[in-house]
Amino acid sequence: MDPEYWARDIDPNVPSAARMYDYFLGGSHNFEADREAARRVIEAMPQAPLIARANRSFLRRAVRFLVASGVRQFLDIGSGVPTVGNVHEIAQGLDPDARVVYVDIDPVAISHAQQLLEGNTRATAIVADLRRPAELLDLLRRARTRAVLDLSRPVGLLMVSMLHFLPGEGTYRAAAALRDALAPGSHVVVSHPVSDAIDARAATEVEAVYRRTATPGGLRTRAEVQRFFDGYALVPPGLVWVPEWRPDDRADNAADDDGEPGADPRRVGMVAGVGGKTG
Ligand SMILES: C[S@@+](CC[C@H](N)C(=O)[O-])C[C@H]1O[C@@H](n2cnc3c(N)ncnc32)[C@H](O)[C@@H]1O
Repeated sequence: MDPEYWARDIDPNVPSAARMYDYFLGGSHNFEADREAARRVIEAMPQAPLIARANRSFLRRAVRFLVASGVRQFLDIGSGVPTVGNVHEIAQGLDPDARVVYVDIDPVAISHAQQLLEGNTRATAIVADLRRPAELLDLLRRARTRAVLDLSRPVGLLMVSMLHFLPGEGTYRAAAALRDALAPGSHVVVSHPVSDAIDARAATEVEAVYRRTATPGGLRTRAEVQRFFDGYALVPPGLVWVPEWRPDDRADNAADDDGEPGADPRRVGMVAGVGGKTG
């Protein structure tokens, strides 16, 4: 990617989690600093690209599940650089009237999403920070986003592989503010790497790499991840290892799921779940 083209708001010498993730997935929207940082992560944790692919596969399965459950609107926070099988492609492929708002703190990710969505009146992308839920909700109530998302109707709130970039109690409050703002019938979708499964030394090395980005992170335990569903009822099979969440044998997942037959699902080191808001 040509840094000149994107140079408006960003420093290409500071690695970004969004662009490192793009590199893990084989994308081209990353700079040398991102690639170098991503390679250091792979050195410490060789399964990093596998984790990214398995996570994308979970995201697609969860979106299909929600559309099948009647959800037609999606708020994808920490959406990342668009890649193959984006939320609007999955949802609108099933129902062309499905609505999607992408949110990310990374201007490159959002700029690329905006280009991809040009001419798509049912999807848009905005730069915002999950840690500022009031500002985010305010943005969603403005004309451009209100035309896409109707907050009085059910929404699929996606916080997939992003909450570990936001350690601390404040993240629970921010996520709760968003869950509370949604209508009954809404769902929350979370995946999160957990300390229960990731080698402590590898985790320390990986955290050191991410400390150089704008979004340094940290792991949580499974019980801590469960708190992101407070007030929502987990749908079966509950909070499980990513490959175990309603696996299917669709061709687009086969390439992304762990190809090794009988591989330990803990290898992915990440748990995932979907919770629904009743009442
Ligand atoms: C690993 S990517 C995940 C992308 C996508 N959700 C997926 O699962 O494929 C994490 C994303 O979270 C974004 N992010 C980190 N902190 C954020 C924040 N406070 N608000 C919004 N997005 C954030 C990063 O910029 C990055 O694009």
